[in-house]
Amino acid sequence: MQRIVVLISGRGSNLEAIVRQCQAEDWPARVVAVISHKADAAGLSWAQGQGIGTAVVDHRAQTSREAFDEALAAAIDAHQPDWVVLAGFMRILGDAFVHRYAGRLLNIHPSLLPSFPGLHTHRRALEAGCAVAGATVHFVTPTLDHGPVIAQAVVPVRTSDTPESLADRVLVAEHQLYPLALRWAVQGRLRVDGQRVTQLDGAPQHLFCEEP
Ligand code: GRF
Repeated sequence: MQRIVVLISGRGSNLEAIVRQCQAEDWPARVVAVISHKADAAGLSWAQGQGIGTAVVDHRAQTSREAFDEALAAAIDAHQPDWVVLAGFMRILGDAFVHRYAGRLLNIHPSLLPSFPGLHTHRRALEAGCAVAGATVHFVTPTLDHGPVIAQAVVPVRTSDTPESLADRVLVAEHQLYPLALRWAVQGRLRVDGQRVTQLDGAPQHLFCEEP
């Protein structure tokens, strides 16, 4: 049974989607711990309610970024994970951390990368006049929001959209996308070749999330 550690900063709705799909589809894996840098992250309480172990590594208690990364890695390694999953984790991680988990560190980003890395993705997509927005699950590399793309979900932009309304619909898509991509990872169904990731069964690596 493979072991997944999930890192969160807040609500944890992607965490919930992953845990539920993992159970519903009987993956050869389970979420063994949820770790946050924020003690009040709502997803921690939810995880505790599910009987999943939690830990807090407070970045404000650390003397430097590197010290935080090391403390975080120690908390993660205590659970001997096969996979480390960033799910709404809003801290930038240093190169040494990323290298430590290379090939088994995943992130979800709320844009169609390589467009709009960083923050405020939905506002930027609207300002740019995009007809579609979406989310990307990718392997994490040292360059922020730039690693090999595992799968993407496409969400149409509506003329009436605000950043908030678009974020709400993209989040629904994220809840389908992240469990799908992570399941492929734990099933060994991904091959990485430079920036390109291939789903070995030939499954489409995109979701079109159309609304009525
Ligand atoms: C998601 O939109 C994720 O893509 C972004 O932050 C949000 C986290 O939501 N990075 P949640 O904590 O999973 O509910």
